[in-house]
Amino acid sequence: MKLATKLKTALLLLCAATAASANPFPGGNAVNGQKLFEQYKCNSCHDTMMGGDGNKIFTRLTRKVSTPDSLIDQIGMCSGNVNAHLTAQQKQDLAAYLNNYYKFK
Ligand code: HEC
Repeated sequence: MKLATKLKTALLLLCAATAASANPFPGGNAVNGQKLFEQYKCNSCHDTMMGGDGNKIFTRLTRKVSTPDSLIDQIGMCSGNVNAHLTAQQKQDLAAYLNNYYKFK
């Protein structure tokens, strides 16, 4: 391996390790995520399902999402419900906001 390639690999590994230990959504902006959540009325269905407080769906014992990746996937699926064509960045923002509930590290 060339030195430059080795250095790049080391840097990538370092970034990945830092991101994994600190914050699974380092590029996400939670404040913007909350705005999107309200803008798209994300809790409209969850409210009905959870008897009034839709946020409970994120902390219920039987919650589905158990990893950062599956949170991104579920946001993608649910955004279809509201016809939102979210960018990758907007999904990261929503995930950063919802991680207030999931608390993935
Ligand atoms: C049309 C109704 C509907 C709308 C609108 C909706 N959702 Fe959902 N959402 C659901 C349903 C139904 C489930 C539960 C799926 C299950 O339990 O299999 C769910 C579950 C979820 C979960 C996983 C909860 C868990 O169990 O861990 C997340 C995260 C989520 N929604 C995010 C969003 C976001 C973000 C939006 C807005 C972009 C949104 N949802 C809008 C219907 C909706």
